[in-house]
Amino acid sequence: MFTGFQSLLVHTMARLDSRRLFKSFTSLNFQSIRASSTTTKPTTSLVRNQSSVSTLLDDDMVALDNTGLSQFELDSARPYSDVPGPKPYPLFGNTWRLLPYIGQYQISNLADVSAQLYQEYGKIVRLGGLVGRPDLLFVYDADEIEKVYRQEGPTPFRPSMPCLVHYKSVVRKEFFGRLAGVVGVHGEPWREFRTKVQKPILQLRTVKKYIEPIENVTDYFIQRMNEMKDENSEMPADFDNEIHKWSLECIGRVALDVRLGCLNPDLSNNSEPQKIIDAAKYALRNVAILELKLPFWRYIPSTLWRNYVSNMDYFIEICMKYIDSAMERLKTKTNLNEHDMSLVERILLNEPDPKTAYVLALDLILVGIDTISMAVCSMLYQLATRPEEQEKLHQELIRIMPDSSEPLTAAKLDQMVYLKAFIKEVFRKYSTVIGNGRTLQNDMVICGYRIPKGIQLVFPTIVTGNMPEYVTDPETFYPERWIKHSSPSQCPAHSHEIHPFASLPYGHGARMCLGRRFADLEMQILLSKLIRSYRLEFNHKPLEYKVTFMYAPDGDLKFKMTPRS
Ligand code: HEM
Repeated sequence: MFTGFQSLLVHTMARLDSRRLFKSFTSLNFQSIRASSTTTKPTTSLVRNQSSVSTLLDDDMVALDNTGLSQFELDSARPYSDVPGPKPYPLFGNTWRLLPYIGQYQISNLADVSAQLYQEYGKIVRLGGLVGRPDLLFVYDADEIEKVYRQEGPTPFRPSMPCLVHYKSVVRKEFFGRLAGVVGVHGEPWREFRTKVQKPILQLRTVKKYIEPIENVTDYFIQRMNEMKDENSEMPADFDNEIHKWSLECIGRVALDVRLGCLNPDLSNNSEPQKIIDAAKYALRNVAILELKLPFWRYIPSTLWRNYVSNMDYFIEICMKYIDSAMERLKTKTNLNEHDMSLVERILLNEPDPKTAYVLALDLILVGIDTISMAVCSMLYQLATRPEEQEKLHQELIRIMPDSSEPLTAAKLDQMVYLKAFIKEVFRKYSTVIGNGRTLQNDMVICGYRIPKGIQLVFPTIVTGNMPEYVTDPETFYPERWIKHSSPSQCPAHSHEIHPFASLPYGHGARMCLGRRFADLEMQILLSKLIRSYRLEFNHKPLEYKVTFMYAPDGDLKFKMTPRS
């Protein structure tokens, strides 16, 4: 997916050489950081609070705010101005650091920057003085991240792309009104919308219904892969575009109730599916430039901004077209059994205003194509370059799918323990969304500092998921660490511990990724079908991981695909 603006900054500033990054992780002086973090370790976790409260004055005991903190604890914390971080220069603040040529942080380099900030300043870092926007506060302490998530209340605020907010709330206000969706929406309007759509989207019963349609799309995609192979049995250089087509076809089935026809051979650049793919990439990837490099669209509409708006208008048009057809089909349906209904039909039946379905489709497509596509690129690259792990997965798949032509079922997917562990390990080590974030809605004490309401927190999961104090032996790629056994002594990875808040690929809490069940399902179906029947190799120079919007291998994904006997 997509995540909050801080993580957008994380995405967009990163142009990351994974080996360099991980070299820098391993060369971090964790010993000294651990030592320094103990000095700033807060005494404010909710549990710790309760015991410390008893030593306070009565007035303080009643004056707990909704973070569970007393005024006394807030007052005795170190001031926000003491939080370490790069010092802003007068006039240009820290924004100059993001400018081309003179800035030390490339806009495509924030994963690296994020690791550097940690190395230089420790577990809490303030990047202030950003022109036209609030400070960013990087938090690298998994206990503190847990604390923030646990107290965030019913309407968590994930700062989102201001340009999307502006589009929804100003440019197309007449269209969205109070039904603006979940992406870039906050407070009560967000909660109302999310409550309307959350149950059908996250309900396992609904998700399982999509095994068959997604398997059909995937079978066709694998057949297309076979047709795409060159004389060396390799995929074309722009294979990532083919993956985008597959993911759009899957999302089209889920959010619009149609087969869009994205996998048809020889799609022209002008075809509707290719235009939707281009629009989705454009919408996400240009946000970085609009937000960070050229934030002047707020005052003077630039060409980039105008293109962004017409791009978004195109999305709305597409969603309306297909949802209207779904509605027409629904009107003529005689058997309205909820169990047989698609997600779109369920939404349309429960919400008489089709706008809910339009806006939901828009949000799902907007954030559900690039995320899943880049995650799949990363998963395939890891499988192709890790023959040992690929073989373990293949053995699991032979056992669960002895006859590869038999359809997948929920029961079979449930048994794919190694596949799920592999996916989690790729997310841990190469987190597709490299960070998440929250805007503080109340003052809070974090790492011993009093952080004022309104500050944007960044949780760089790509860094915390690789820190030895939260993950045992983090440099080793070890899917088994995620496999739980009933008896700990049976577990090959029983000595491998992971802090539950160190690696959160889908975020956490009430605002957690709305498409996560579909994302998992799509990845599981594609990887299981492919690796059950084919060996995947990558016989080229190793690729570097970089961030466009998502964090993924950068370069031609010329996988070699060989049928297994
Ligand atoms: C592997 C792929 C994906 C990853 C890694 C991912 C990750 C995330 C993350 C980190 C968030 C922010 C959660 C938070 O604030 O706690 C998020 C939000 C969201 N994701 Fe995903 N996502 C993925 C795929 C998808 C797909 C396929 C869809 C649509 C079908 C989707 C729809 C959404 C939506 C609508 C939100 C906003 C939720 C809200 O604010 O209420 N995501 N995702």
